[in-house]
Amino acid sequence: MVTAHIAAAPGDFAPDVLMPGDPRRARRIAETILQDARLVTDVRGIEGFTGTYRGAPLSVLASGMGMPSVTIYATELFRFYGVRRIVRVGTAGALPASVGLRDVVVATAAHTDSAMGSSRVDGVHLSHAASFGLAAAAARAAQAGADAGARADGGTGPRTHVGPVFTTDHFYLERPALFERLEAHGTLAVEMEAAGLYATAAAEGGQALAVLTVSDHVRHAQALTPAERETDFDRAVTIAATSLLP
Ligand code: HPA
Repeated sequence: MVTAHIAAAPGDFAPDVLMPGDPRRARRIAETILQDARLVTDVRGIEGFTGTYRGAPLSVLASGMGMPSVTIYATELFRFYGVRRIVRVGTAGALPASVGLRDVVVATAAHTDSAMGSSRVDGVHLSHAASFGLAAAAARAAQAGADAGARADGGTGPRTHVGPVFTTDHFYLERPALFERLEAHGTLAVEMEAAGLYATAAAEGGQALAVLTVSDHVRHAQALTPAERETDFDRAVTIAATSLLP
């Protein structure tokens, strides 16, 4: 079967998919955590891989950037390839000072400035919420990892936060007043895909979650280097993959 953006055979994708934004990160995840990974699609350089993680079938496919792109890939996976659960593993910019570089954010909900959601049900602002079972499993996996990490590093390592994020269409728009208001409403971080993924899962009868690594601080001008982004990303990938285990 070939859809407009994925060229894979029926059964090529596992029911569970990890979805980074960056295609190179999809390959890296496949090479580092999957056993027996094989390439199942590479349309437009968006490579998809299927293998197993700790014995359970698992696929990886990049989303590209932004809500339109993630909505395309998630719709095709849910609707045509038998996928049931998608966990986004991406980066985000932190809003409150209490969320630091390298911390992980489990996004239970996603506010958005995008018009995409408002065209799904006329006159209604749909809630863009993560699937509860996945969010709870990710929080448990993060806690188990944090407990182990705290024993190893004396409790100084990165932390996990669970709560709402802001999914924006604009990467470069400077809006300090908006970020201040969002922070005052308990928003933990800014990214560009979660709301689109959650809306798609709701529309297609699937489940979804975003587990985000804090790569920069929106309000305090701090950022990880590209090399740090790669290594510090691994913790979120482990949490995401663990949350999908039976
Ligand atoms: N804005 C939007 N998306 C992001 C950011 C940000 O500051 N950081 C990482 N992804």
